[in-house]
Amino acid sequence: MVLSQEQVAAAPQINTALPGPKAAAIIERDKKVISPSYTRGYPFVIGDGNGAVAADVDGNTFLDYCAGIAVCATGHNHPHLVKKVQEQAGQFFHMSGTDFYYEHMPELAERLGATMPEYIDDKGNRSKAYRTFFCNSGAEAVEGALKLARYHTGRQTIISFYRSFHGRTYGAMSVTASKSVQKKRFRPLVPSVHHAHYPYHYREPHGATPEETAAYCLKYIEENLFGKVVQPDEVAAILVEPIQGEGGYVVPPDGFLLGLQAMAKQHGFLIIADEVQAGMGRTGDYWASNQVPGFEPDILTSAKGLASGLPLGAILAKHHVMNWPPGVHASTFGGNPVACAAALATLDLLDDGLCDHAKQQGEYLMAKLKTLQSKFACIGDIRGRGLMVGMELITDAATKGKAKALRDDIVDTAFYHGLIILGCGENSIRFSPPLVITNEQTDKAIDILATVMTECLAKQKQPVGV
Ligand SMILES: Cc1ncc(COP(=O)(O)O)c(C=O)c1O
Repeated sequence: MVLSQEQVAAAPQINTALPGPKAAAIIERDKKVISPSYTRGYPFVIGDGNGAVAADVDGNTFLDYCAGIAVCATGHNHPHLVKKVQEQAGQFFHMSGTDFYYEHMPELAERLGATMPEYIDDKGNRSKAYRTFFCNSGAEAVEGALKLARYHTGRQTIISFYRSFHGRTYGAMSVTASKSVQKKRFRPLVPSVHHAHYPYHYREPHGATPEETAAYCLKYIEENLFGKVVQPDEVAAILVEPIQGEGGYVVPPDGFLLGLQAMAKQHGFLIIADEVQAGMGRTGDYWASNQVPGFEPDILTSAKGLASGLPLGAILAKHHVMNWPPGVHASTFGGNPVACAAALATLDLLDDGLCDHAKQQGEYLMAKLKTLQSKFACIGDIRGRGLMVGMELITDAATKGKAKALRDDIVDTAFYHGLIILGCGENSIRFSPPLVITNEQTDKAIDILATVMTECLAKQKQPVGV
């Protein structure tokens, strides 16, 4: 089945009970043979896609405001990506950058490096020189970044943040502090990791301003970690998401990232920006880090949207930081040429206006959600940048009680109305659509959301109005 432009324009259209017969059969097979560790909620079985529309195997169409967890940056089956991937697949699939050369790796590294900020290098010169290590996933990028920070500094300790998510492999899991189920029965973890507070202004209990919240979080590291738990000269790096993803799409004030950077410079450790979820145009710039003037992470991790749906991860580092000898780190599949071709095609589109489009569409989506907030008392907070937008649901404005059950119900029910969304944090919904969405699609998505929220609040016997 190939989705026609008419089907795309008419989406969403639900023609069967959900799941339809073909979807139900696949889910039955899946249950028998696939690891039950995945966290599938509603029964969506993709059969086709076009832009921001995804169809299931029974021909029902959905508006995709999830993009395979912030991955399909250019939308499903973008013709430019399809062409470049097909061309590459017709040439060669693999050779392994660990032992051989192919042009895609330096070409992609050059183009990614060009998206990074200027910095002062170890000799005091202005530089825009970066080196890149290619891998296959977000966790693998984080894992490598941790190794690089330890290697470069000769120090062991890593500081990361509560509510952060960095992946499922041992190093990435150890720096993660998202859900305890992700660690239970997997200990012992990688040692010398400490967690600190990430500014979450909406949940600040003392009525502080965002800047004061950020200052408190910085002070916590200086006063409670340094000297008491760890000496600052033992710290290899602070690992930070410029916008927390799985933790609830929480945007810190600029002063937080700049404060961490000042601390790093003072004590001689590195800043690793985990842009696995926020990067590659999603926030309306190539990197969320670029939106904080003066912030220039020493190491940056990318994956998810990097190749718009093919598995590719990258560690970008300042040239003098990624200065490790042959044999210390490698990956057989990392920088696979077909995935690199998809990433180069993604960059073509971002350069050609998709970043700006994401910014405009993000503003439109945010404005529409704010209108919804004026009608629904359960919407506590709307926040984000570009097309990384979070909506936090509460039981009531006075206590800001976390409306987790309502959130889960809204996410599930939206599917049955043709809208694909996912939760994040304890009680938030994330909107991470393909960057190609249109105003018309957002208008439809918001109408669906309003219907769904009214239905779910009625089930919970919770009033709608503010
Ligand atoms: C910020 C961040 N880092 C790392 C990861 C791990 O990426 P992956 O699932 O590709 O290993 C994720 C995944 O959600 C993420 O959001």
